[in-house]
Amino acid sequence: MGCCGRRVFLLWIVEVIRAVILANAQWSVTMPGHITALTGSCVIIPCQFTCPWNYQPKEVVWYQYVSYGYPLVYSKNKPGGVIEKFRYKTELVGNATEKNCSLKIKDVHSTQNQEKIYVWIDPDMISYRDYKFYDTTVTLNVKDVVAPPEMSVTGEQTEGKTIKVYCTAVHTCPSSPPSLSFGDQQGSIQVSHTKEEMGQWRVTAEISWKAHDEDHGKMVSCTITHPGNRNATMRVALIVTSSPSNVSVTQHPGRPLEGQPVNLSCLSQSYPPAKSYRWYRVQRGHMVQQEGESQNLYLAKVSRDTGYYSCSARNDFGEASSK
Ligand SMILES: *[C@@H]1O[C@H](CO)[C@@H](O)[C@H](O)[C@H]1NC(C)=O
Ligand SMILES: *[C@@H]1O[C@H](CO)[C@@H](O)[C@H](O)[C@H]1NC(C)=O
Ligand SMILES: *[C@@H]1O[C@H](CO)[C@@H](O)[C@H](O)[C@H]1NC(C)=O
Ligand SMILES: *[C@@H]1O[C@H](CO)[C@@H](O)[C@H](O)[C@H]1NC(C)=O
Ligand SMILES: *[C@@H]1O[C@H](CO)[C@@H](O)[C@H](O)[C@H]1NC(C)=O
Repeated sequence: MGCCGRRVFLLWIVEVIRAVILANAQWSVTMPGHITALTGSCVIIPCQFTCPWNYQPKEVVWYQYVSYGYPLVYSKNKPGGVIEKFRYKTELVGNATEKNCSLKIKDVHSTQNQEKIYVWIDPDMISYRDYKFYDTTVTLNVKDVVAPPEMSVTGEQTEGKTIKVYCTAVHTCPSSPPSLSFGDQQGSIQVSHTKEEMGQWRVTAEISWKAHDEDHGKMVSCTITHPGNRNATMRVALIVTSSPSNVSVTQHPGRPLEGQPVNLSCLSQSYPPAKSYRWYRVQRGHMVQQEGESQNLYLAKVSRDTGYYSCSARNDFGEASSK
């Protein structure tokens, strides 16, 4: 009794193991249904497959999806037999031993737009009765227009602090990635490359410099240049906060007559603009603070000994006086 119970149990275990192996022993191909590529650049179609347990895959071939026949898109053994629009432009970058069937297409051309292609592992050995490889295709989406990069500004956007402008874009060609440049902006530049999902890579450039109040309102550009000199530019405006500078007093009228009124105005440059002012009268070497915090100072009557006026302008970032 004990013996037979164990035997049934062992048979059951064998069945379970067989089922697990069979479940994992299927052919399958995983790749994106669509992939976007830029003319003149390259694209790598990510492709992975599974095969029956203990099967040793050898050859990876790619075909054009058509209703009749098997036009070659990539074949290691018959490179000259590849149809013209893909001839000498395709390269297997995956490793069959690692079940990686990734295909690189270089110098992408607009005639390849909307082509559907598919992979077949060992077409001499594996027939459509084993696995219908043509049921998993990837459609090439070839575009001709270069997308501008994305930009953002970070860091402390205040004079004297380090300002950072980022520029980033995705692409499909890690072997000759696009370059990013910041026009005439000076600063230290760092570039990084990362891999993203589904056959995309990202290039990011960061430029940083010490912000100056004159940077406020300036446009910083970022140009992406793909192989073949295809480019697109994006721009961002800088907002740099600063304390007032270039403080000066102007008067109306410019040459007031004795006994006439004069209107003084305190001018300054900053972002955000000055929100309060102070006026000083310098008389016989003494500085006398005047009433009022407004930008203009109205004097009802000027005389020879009115003296000299100066003002100071203030915002949340500081204060500065006229000379
Ligand atoms: C397949 O090969 C390509 C090209 O070498 C590589 O970029 C990719 O990471 C590989 N895929 C996997 C899942 O290892
Ligand atoms: C493919 O992968 C196998 C196993 O990782 C390795 O031994 C072989 O050298 C690789 N072949 C190529 C061409 O990289
Ligand atoms: C201050 O004035 C000088 C001379 O007019 C000018 O060059 C400078 O750009 C001004 N500063 C700001 C912050 O606008
Ligand atoms: C972008 O391309 C145009 C046309 O090919 C070229 O005239 C221009 O110099 C390029 N711009 C940059 C920044 O490379
Ligand atoms: C002084 O000048 C300012 C700016 O031009 C003006 O808004 C204001 O009305 C003037 N004040 C007088 C009293 O003329």
